[in-house]
Amino acid sequence: MHIRKAVILAGGSGTRLHPVTRATNKHLLPIYDQPAIFHAIDKLVDAGITRIMIVTGPDHLDDFAHVLGSGQHWKPKYGKEKQIQITYGIQNKPNGIAQGLFIAKEYVNEEPCVLYLGDNYIEDDLEPYIKNFKDGATVFLTRVKDPERFGIATIGKDGTVLSIEEKPKKPKTDLAVAGIYLYDETVFAKMADQKPSVRGEYEITYVNNKYIKERKLRAVMLKKEWFDVGTFDSLLEVSQHVKNKRGKTKR
Ligand code: TTP
Repeated sequence: MHIRKAVILAGGSGTRLHPVTRATNKHLLPIYDQPAIFHAIDKLVDAGITRIMIVTGPDHLDDFAHVLGSGQHWKPKYGKEKQIQITYGIQNKPNGIAQGLFIAKEYVNEEPCVLYLGDNYIEDDLEPYIKNFKDGATVFLTRVKDPERFGIATIGKDGTVLSIEEKPKKPKTDLAVAGIYLYDETVFAKMADQKPSVRGEYEITYVNNKYIKERKLRAVMLKKEWFDVGTFDSLLEVSQHVKNKRGKTKR
């Protein structure tokens, strides 16, 4: 089944980018010559997604509407529709990634969906996974040098995820879970009994652990570049990377 819908989370507090994120939202900051969220949308549209809900806080919602509109800047990869459809959801307070996704429950409406954390920049093609999605859930893994800062996965021989540990003191692997997930229609039911974690957030790891218990969380290794644009250094690094690439294919 080809997944049609995606939810891009573009809320959060962006404290690591203060004071800049007091003026605007992290996902509207430039990766070289485009707002960061353009890369997320491009990636999803290139994979055949036609419906996107952007979930963000109330403070910069109007800026997103100015920049992205209803999706008129993007054409669907397949089909006859003139543009993709972008709609918006409001997360009043940044109380966690699972809470952000839950806001899209009615929108997703019992279909499978992609959850894309808008501060992730990737270069792998998502289409094969989005096109051939069946059931359960899929996470994308990337090797990192500082696993203590991430959700870290162990995987079995058949590619199913055996465990995910949040920011482990003694990491078992260097396989970090990137901010892109594919979920079947059972994802919202898995949040029904969820409570905030010790840090007060509705964690996406809680949801992923439910899929692990059902042995239905699959792992895909990202083969190309991955950046998380949450800090000034990573923003600079990914901007330089995109500039170098553009140099070769100047628009
Ligand atoms: P984080 O980078 O973990 O958090 P943040 O964006 O608030 O930044 P900082 O740590 O500097 O304060 O968020 C990961 C992604 O998820 C990012 O794209 C923002 C998004 N997000 C939401 O949309 N809602 C939320 O409640 C949270 C926690 C994150």
